[in-house]
Amino acid sequence: ATPLLALDDDVLAANIARFEALVRTRGIDVCYAGKALLFVGLARRIDASALGLDVCSQGELLTGEAAGIAPARMVFHGCGKTHDELDAVASGRVGRVVVDHHDELRALANLANAARPIKVLLRVNTGIEAHTHAYVRTGGEESKFGFPLGGVAAAVAFALASPGMRLVGLHSHLGSQIFDAAPYDASLPILLDAYARALEAGAPLTDLVLGGGFGVDPIPGAARFDLESAVATLVADLAAGARARGIAAPRLGLEPGRSIVADAGTSLYRVIAIKHQGARKFAIVDGGIADNPRPALYGAYHHPTLANRTSDAASEETTVCGRSCENDRLVVADLPVDLAPGDLLALGTTGAYTYSMASNYNRFPRPAIAFAGAGKHVLGVRREASADLLRNDVR
Ligand code: LLP
Repeated sequence: ATPLLALDDDVLAANIARFEALVRTRGIDVCYAGKALLFVGLARRIDASALGLDVCSQGELLTGEAAGIAPARMVFHGCGKTHDELDAVASGRVGRVVVDHHDELRALANLANAARPIKVLLRVNTGIEAHTHAYVRTGGEESKFGFPLGGVAAAVAFALASPGMRLVGLHSHLGSQIFDAAPYDASLPILLDAYARALEAGAPLTDLVLGGGFGVDPIPGAARFDLESAVATLVADLAAGARARGIAAPRLGLEPGRSIVADAGTSLYRVIAIKHQGARKFAIVDGGIADNPRPALYGAYHHPTLANRTSDAASEETTVCGRSCENDRLVVADLPVDLAPGDLLALGTTGAYTYSMASNYNRFPRPAIAFAGAGKHVLGVRREASADLLRNDVR
């Protein structure tokens, strides 16, 4: 049944392997950012890899636990952790936590147990703005995330004075869908300065995490972010920067989300109707803003292809819309003029932030997720049933 999110096993495996190579050859600590897409079957793939898991909610943590990922391989994120989540951190259900602000530091200090100190990283807002969509930019003065540079020393001092905390590193994340190594290069010396000052203050730091954000181009065959060369530069700059400051080079950490799952995912839709309004041709499909909100939210492009047959017909501009009760345009693209009800349309690069941001708007059920490869498929997440939609309604 459609809509369906299909995850290409080979692409997923290749993306994971690409980051595993950085773990193995460069000693980089890589955690998959589960917010991009997470369910037990996918978490199991992460568990079987050399990657750790970055979780930012009770739900993501439970998913990692259900997949059997050891606490030491999970790190807890978020700028507004609830009491329950901080409790999960303090009770050792994750190996590390990235603390976003002072109130959280205080709350954690109260929950922490000196017999089993919590490994803490401080999220630093370096003030560097990545050139990406404003909604997904997380560094810079207009962003709510992290300690401002001027606040890091006080946070370090507070953590050092808390017996239940062990300060192990600094963290920064600049934004998402970044295609340029420059913002990473620009924030590195700023972070290294803060890192060196924290060492000087007596913090036993070992780690510097630069976050995720590596862009995935939605145009088939387009050049991707050159991860390997960006990382090579960062590793060299890190070593040189550490030497210049007279400190040991920290272990580098990365948190890719999109670059692991985006291009592995394809959303499949059935065309319900073809219609014309004035000069515009519409194809209405059996999904929309509920299962695929990124076009509406970020103006995201997901490349469409006719998936159930080949067509020699000429192409014409077609506006593909969902079936929600509003203008939920998914994409405008050239598609065969003979596109007809019953045809299957595939929208590419929907592995990241599509299912994970899906809703039940219009009380539509969320789609199923299937791993696909080598002529067979395995269900990863069942399609929601009508009963699921009513599950929480009080009768
Ligand atoms: N680390 C932290 C602390 C993050 O906040 C994020 C993403 C990542 C890592 C992973 O970033 P990635 O490698 O996936 O770019 N919903 C938006 C994207 C929001 C990204 C949020 N943070 C979208 O659909 O484009």
